[in-house]
Amino acid sequence: MYYKINTYGCQMNIHESEKVAGVLEKLGFSPVAEEENADIIVYNTCCIRETAEKRALGNIGSIKHLKKKKNNLIIVVLGCLTEQPGYIEIFKQEYPHVDIVLGTRNISDLETALKDCINSKRKFHSTGQTEDFLVKDEKLPVSRDSYPNAWVNIMYGCNNFCTYCIVPYVRGREISRPMDAILDEVKRCVAEDFKEITLLGQNVNSYGQDLNDGSNFEKLLREVAKIDGKFRVRFLTSHPKDLTDGIIDAIASSEKLCKFIHLPVQAGSSKVLKDMNRKYDKERYLELVKKIKDRIPGVKITTDIMVGFPTETEEDFEETLDVVRKCRFSNAFTFIYSPRKGTPAAKMQQLPYDLKKKRIMELIKLQNSITKGISKEYEGGIYEILVEDVSPKYEGNVCGRTDCGRLVTFPGTKDMIGSFVRVKITKSKSASLFGEIVD
Ligand code: 5AD
Ligand code: SF4
Repeated sequence: MYYKINTYGCQMNIHESEKVAGVLEKLGFSPVAEEENADIIVYNTCCIRETAEKRALGNIGSIKHLKKKKNNLIIVVLGCLTEQPGYIEIFKQEYPHVDIVLGTRNISDLETALKDCINSKRKFHSTGQTEDFLVKDEKLPVSRDSYPNAWVNIMYGCNNFCTYCIVPYVRGREISRPMDAILDEVKRCVAEDFKEITLLGQNVNSYGQDLNDGSNFEKLLREVAKIDGKFRVRFLTSHPKDLTDGIIDAIASSEKLCKFIHLPVQAGSSKVLKDMNRKYDKERYLELVKKIKDRIPGVKITTDIMVGFPTETEEDFEETLDVVRKCRFSNAFTFIYSPRKGTPAAKMQQLPYDLKKKRIMELIKLQNSITKGISKEYEGGIYEILVEDVSPKYEGNVCGRTDCGRLVTFPGTKDMIGSFVRVKITKSKSASLFGEIVD
C-alpha cells in the first residue's frame, strides 16, 4: 500500500509532512511518486496568501477523477487551510471526495481517522486546538526527508497578530516545547548523522515565554551549540521585536550556529509597520541590522517584504526601497499583500492590483541587483560547504550551502551528500555561485 503527500507552504508544513509520513509508514504504507499509484493522497495545505490557497484547492478538486476510478483511494486534507472558519463545511459540501480533514494540531488523530475510514468508510473531520496537543505531538514518529538537514520544531503557533496575517488564527497561540525534549531530539538527529539542524517556529525569538521555567531562545541556542559532533544550527523565523543582544552574542560566539539570520522586515515605512502591528519602526530595524552586522562578522541577513499593504502610499513604498538599499539583504522573499478573511487588514480599503504589481517589480529589480553584487563578493573566497544534493541542473555537479545559506554548485558525486568540503568560488551568476573543491 502506498501514500503520496503534496505539501504547500512553509518549512513548518514541510516538517509536519514528515510527521504525517512517519504515521503512514508506521501503519505499513510506503511513499510513491505518482498519485495514480497511491492508496492514500495527502494534501498538507497553506493559506498565507490567496494564491497558496487556490493552488491547493485546485489540486484537491482535480483529484476527484482518480477517486472515481479507484474507489478505495483515501484523500486526506490537513494544514492551515482547514482551520479557516467554515472550511470543514466547504469540504463536506464542495469536495465530497475528501475523506479526512485534519487541523494544524490534529496530526495525532490521523491514525484513528484512517482506521475508521478503512474499516467503516466513515469520514473524519477534526480541527481546532486540542488540550493535550503537545503530549500527543511529542509521540509522533517522524520520517525525515531532507537529509543532511533535520527540521526540529521548538514551538507552535503565534501570538503576534500582525494585522495582515492569518497564521495566529489557523495555528493558535504559542506553545513552546520543553527544552529537554528539543535537546534530546537534536542529539538523536546528530547521532543519526544529520549535519544541519534547523530549529523551527513562527517566531523563534519568543521561545520559552509560555513555559515559565526560565527557558528562552538564547539559552536554547547555547545548549544546542554544546552538543558534541560536527553539525550546523539554523533557525527560522525571527521577529525583529524579540531578537535580543544575548541571541546575537550567542550566534557570534559559537562555531555551530550559522552566521545567518532570516529577519522579516515586511515594510520600510514606520507608519505602515505600525498599521501592520509589527511593534518596531524603521529606525529600530535599521539599528538592529547594524548591531547584528557589527557583532557577527560575515553575517548574512535575509528578509521577507510585502508590498501593497492597504495603507502603503508611494512615499511609504520608497521607505521600503530605502531599507532594502541600506540593509543590503543577502536575499529577500517578496510578496504582494493578499487580503486574508478575518484579519484586520482585509477590512481596510485595498490598493489596486496593478499598483501592487508595479511596486513588487521595482522591489525585485532592486533586490536582484543587490543579490548580484553580494554574489560577486564571494568570488575568489574559500568557504566550507555542506553538500546537500546532486545538482538538478548541471550534470556531474553537486550543490551545497555556505554557513550563511548561499547555494554553491561544483563538480562532485552523490556519495558526497552530507559531507563538509572546502570550496573556492570561481564564478557567480545572479544568486548562484559556482566553484571547485580545494584541499
Ligand atoms: N499577504 C502577503 N504576504 C503575507 N505574508 C504573511 N501574510 C501575508 C499576506 N496576507 C508573508 C510575510 C511573512 C511571509 C511568511 O509571508 O512576509 O513573513
Ligand atoms: Fe504572521 Fe506576524 Fe505571527 Fe509571523 S509574527 S506568523 S507574520 S502574525
